[in-house]
Amino acid sequence: MFLQRLISELGQDLVLSDSDATQKYCRDWMGDVDTSAVAVLRPRSPADVSRAVVACGQLGLGIVPQGGNTGLVLGALPDDPSRQVILSLERLNRIRAIEPADFAAVVEAGCILANVKDAVAERGLFFPLALGAQGTCQIGGNVSTNAGGLNVLRYGMARDQIFGLEVVLPDGRIWNGLSALRKDNRGIDLKQFFIGSEGTLGIITAASIKLLPAPTKVATALLAVTSLGAAVSIYSLCRELCSDLMTAFEFMPPSALILAKEAMPDLEMPLAGEYPAYALMEISGSGLVDIDGLMEKTIAELFSRELLLDGVLSSSEKQTRNLWMFREAMIHGIAHRGRHLRTDISVALSKLPIFVKRAEALLARTMPEFVAISYGHVGDGNVHLDVIPPTHMTEEEKIAAIEVVKDRLFELVYEFDGSISAEHGIGREKRDDFLKSSSPVSVELLRAVKNAIDPAGIMNPGCQLTAD
Ligand code: FAD
Ligand code: LAC
Ligand code: ZN
Repeated sequence: MFLQRLISELGQDLVLSDSDATQKYCRDWMGDVDTSAVAVLRPRSPADVSRAVVACGQLGLGIVPQGGNTGLVLGALPDDPSRQVILSLERLNRIRAIEPADFAAVVEAGCILANVKDAVAERGLFFPLALGAQGTCQIGGNVSTNAGGLNVLRYGMARDQIFGLEVVLPDGRIWNGLSALRKDNRGIDLKQFFIGSEGTLGIITAASIKLLPAPTKVATALLAVTSLGAAVSIYSLCRELCSDLMTAFEFMPPSALILAKEAMPDLEMPLAGEYPAYALMEISGSGLVDIDGLMEKTIAELFSRELLLDGVLSSSEKQTRNLWMFREAMIHGIAHRGRHLRTDISVALSKLPIFVKRAEALLARTMPEFVAISYGHVGDGNVHLDVIPPTHMTEEEKIAAIEVVKDRLFELVYEFDGSISAEHGIGREKRDDFLKSSSPVSVELLRAVKNAIDPAGIMNPGCQLTAD
């Protein structure tokens, strides 16, 4: 009945219902969850989105917005399939304008991040948001999750790269907040409500994004170090030595290289020996700055202070790609190992080494058969501490065990005044932990905002907050 009403209101072109065609929208990136939906709506314009929202509102259907479906916390997948539609933004994928003189562009929500980066690069410009999923994730998804990624330490999160938004509200009105002004203090900054709200307040249809001059020189090095603690000390020192031109500083344990090789057997091992820990460092700039010289001097300084066990400075684009491939492919390697716990933790940078040490010791003591892999955006105090259960466990046993591991780790996060979601968001996966660990005042404020903007509760019900 819902389906027929949607088709008659919106037309067949916008409504996908065949289970073969909808399957890819209903499965998460890791392959842990398969769900379904009343239909997958695929609007072509903000006006279509508005009509779809009004139609769903009249039918009492919940709307689950979906971008590239690379989110790792089940925010874009229905949890009440008989009463929810997926609204995919994939056909809203026009780059509306690139304005080099303003260092700004307006792009539709369904534009794939890598395509936006390529399009502005053709004009000598740079959009710094960078993540492993950039070939699939969409700008709308990046804004809705306030994505982080590999370059946060220099350029900030998605929030810092947005001038304005266009949003379809839960009653179908289109809010045009697509300003490209760099400074505008007229009252409360309304776009901030939508950034990071994971589709719970409205559907982002376009964004005005901040651009930079494209860096003309990039230097990349893989550093072999004694421990995560050493990597954090080296990070602080390198920021100083590199005149704060560092754009990435990613931490990987030795198991990362093995996992990466499992996913991409052709990868060439970057260093001959095996070391306790690695940091992938990038510095970049444009104009007269001697980036290569800076990197060479920095590495020489680290060696002279006996802080490095070994290191490789990339001398070609191919080598640079190979180094970054390890960081990218290791996630695929983890995914190939099957169901596992993914975390997305941040603590104060100075406490990161001791946090990871205690977390890994806790797991080794209480769950010795599990494999823990701590990696990620060390410069941001953000670690992905993923935990893989032993292969002999059944899926049910893994699900139960992952819950136990997660609770133990999150207790430690709270003890460190950290965050259980540094960058991936809350979605449906972390909702209960989020609500349990938020103060009553925070939850009241969140509900007040939700009720004011979406009083009927049709936008992404069950994501971030409970649906009632
Ligand atoms: P989706 O997964 O489709 O949706 C995510 C959330 O946003 C959902 O709640 C959805 O309802 C909502 N949403 C999507 N589009 C809209 C819209 N137009 N309007 C309103 N709501 C919307 N994340 C990081 O932060 N840093 C990383 O380094 C990183 N690396 C990753 C690497 C890999 C290999 C993978 C698979 C994921 C990674 N992620 C990372 C997670 C993910 O890519 C990001 O969260 C990304 O921003 C999600 O974009 P998406 O288009 O895929 O959104
Ligand atoms: C990363 C994702 C998983 O940093 O956030 O690779
Ligand atoms: Zn990450």
